[in-house]
Amino acid sequence: MDLTFDESYWSQRYATGRTDWDAGAITPPLRDYFAQLGSPDDRRILIPGAGKGYEAEYLYDRGFTKIFVADVAPEALQALQARVPSFPKEHLLLQDFFRLPAAPPYDLLVEQTFFCALPPALRPAYAEQCARLLRAGGTLMGVLFDADFGPRSEPPFGGSREEYRAYFAPYFEFVHFETAYNSIKPRQGRELFICLKKKIGSEQQ
Ligand SMILES: C[S@@+](CC[C@H](N)C(=O)[O-])C[C@H]1O[C@@H](n2cnc3c(N)ncnc32)[C@H](O)[C@@H]1O
Repeated sequence: MDLTFDESYWSQRYATGRTDWDAGAITPPLRDYFAQLGSPDDRRILIPGAGKGYEAEYLYDRGFTKIFVADVAPEALQALQARVPSFPKEHLLLQDFFRLPAAPPYDLLVEQTFFCALPPALRPAYAEQCARLLRAGGTLMGVLFDADFGPRSEPPFGGSREEYRAYFAPYFEFVHFETAYNSIKPRQGRELFICLKKKIGSEQQ
């Protein structure tokens, strides 16, 4: 993990309330995707860099049973636990995404403002780790900023769909990779909705 943005950096941002990424609720692109998943089941869902975990809360309230959130900032996980005391403690993973074990594999990974929080040099490793954590045919879905934020010394870091495509193409089939139509207002036109399926055999790459 890049030491510039380690646990203490993120903890500090929560402690000082510099959490401008936090929408305060599940956002429509993720909510609408989850709504069409059908009846709740025991598929293994991972939300890395989950922050306060509004997506986890939404899925848990709908009856999904195996939702895991991973974050390096204890404050983030504590916020979810405080809002949803019955959320299983063993599903709150205070861990570096890049060190999460691949077994047992996940069926679904959910992305929102985690990719843009990572130093851009880690983007190829993010795509590789997502593929490692998913079963063959598993899904990585969510939103990525499709916007140039200019040179920056701290997150969020922008980028373009052309750049991102190159990271994911070795491991994933592209089901959706287009501008989201239902972003929250400040992100309208600047978010890419992604739904990628892990290729069979891509773990050998
Ligand atoms: C910009 S915030 C986004 C939080 C949440 N996804 C949201 O949309 O509200 C990025 C989050 O990723 C976490 N994070 C950063 N690097 C991480 C890493 N290597 N592994 C796990 N979590 C990490 C931070 O603590 C922070 O909660």
